[in-house]
Amino acid sequence: MAMIAAKCPRYEVTVVDVNAERIGAWQTDALPIYEPGLLEVLKQARGRNLFFSTDVASAIDKAEIIFVSVNTPTKTFGEGAGKAPDLQYWEKTARTIVEASRGNKVVVEKSTLPVRTAHAMERILNSNRKGIRFEVLSNPEFLAEGTAMRDLELPDRVLIGSHQTPEGIAARDALVEIYANWVPREQIITSNVWSAELSKLASNAFLAQRISSINSISALCEKTAADVSEVSRAIGLDSRIGSRFLNASVGFGGSCFRKDILNLVYLCETSGLPEIARYWQGVIAINEHQKTRFVHTIVSAMFDTIADKRIALLGFAFKKDTGDTRDSPAIAVARKLLEEQAVVVVSDPKALANARLDLAGAPAGRLLFEEDPLQAVRGAHALAILTEWDIYRTLDFRSIFEAMEKPAFIFDGRNILDHKALYAIGFNVYPIGKPPLTHL
Ligand code: UGA
Repeated sequence: MAMIAAKCPRYEVTVVDVNAERIGAWQTDALPIYEPGLLEVLKQARGRNLFFSTDVASAIDKAEIIFVSVNTPTKTFGEGAGKAPDLQYWEKTARTIVEASRGNKVVVEKSTLPVRTAHAMERILNSNRKGIRFEVLSNPEFLAEGTAMRDLELPDRVLIGSHQTPEGIAARDALVEIYANWVPREQIITSNVWSAELSKLASNAFLAQRISSINSISALCEKTAADVSEVSRAIGLDSRIGSRFLNASVGFGGSCFRKDILNLVYLCETSGLPEIARYWQGVIAINEHQKTRFVHTIVSAMFDTIADKRIALLGFAFKKDTGDTRDSPAIAVARKLLEEQAVVVVSDPKALANARLDLAGAPAGRLLFEEDPLQAVRGAHALAILTEWDIYRTLDFRSIFEAMEKPAFIFDGRNILDHKALYAIGFNVYPIGKPPLTHL
């Protein structure tokens, strides 16, 4: 919404939320989320044509177009628990829109939703007795965290799904006009509503599948003399495959990949397609396996016991340049290390507040938080890189080696360090998908 307001001064954008604290924070310089470049864009429009409010009803009534971006977490109860999305927030929002509206409106699905949700929402919206007509569009968001502002400014594509009726096409064209203020027309693509909804789920499933594919190869590399970076480079130079998103890692995280694939799996299961459901389930299974494998490597390298050993985790966010830890592989790794009775020191430049919440309830004295990586590694038996923050590439590893217990171990869950140089300093180095370099 900040980008739309910045690029389209003629439109008035009001962001509403029931959470007054967050709405308050959006009006200060201490934004509720960390996203590089967001504050600058926000400042271009805030108070000019971008406003924040908790008065949901009056903002709905005044708006011609309503973007709905509410949470759709995975259901934790009842039918489809653990897989299906929990649509209660979406449905409540639809009912709030009906109640507060006095005229026709276009309702845009921004949240990622399973195929045919628009249909259900449309039925709720259009069952009103006020004679108001709601036109529902699907306009999935493809930005990635950490690069959100660039992704919004220069998107690969903008996708708008609408009904192919005259009203649907008119609504679609109104939304195309907004994006056309800064996105080239040929990159604004249109489709039917269901295709747009499915394209979002499928895009995330394809992206996650690439990571699980390279991670599966990384396991094989560790058992042979192959190096996953060399394999990934060779694969990626095939122009049909492409080189991006082929970095082997400790596993993918984030609020979307797992949730969206689970949605896809559920959709396949409920559509009578068990084989297809199992295929996509495999992408998640490999991701879980990768996290388990990582911890297994740590335990077995450190003489099959890490009880009471201090292990520093450098990075807790699910990727660099964000404070977001939702479904971060670091959560699973930290929990497994704690189960092994290690002393875990978590370090991250932006994610410590979230990490504290994620690991609440850990046994007293076994879990420490230290923003400064140099303090975190002091006296540690091992350090593990879990997020690819740039600052970790240039740490003074000679001093770190001096400050650590010996033998000192490094487990590079993101393959961002210079492994040979670390080995030369004296570390025992365990990358992902490459033979370890050890002095033992
Ligand atoms: C993802 C998609 O990339 C966006 O297109 C989509 O809009 C978004 O989900 C969403 O649905 O909201 P995001 O989760 O923010 O974006 O971040 P990604 O860059 O996709 O990274 C996801 C995870 O994969 C991270 O844990 C990252 O470290 C990991 N990853 C990524 C790898 O392990 N290897 C890679 O080569 C790339």
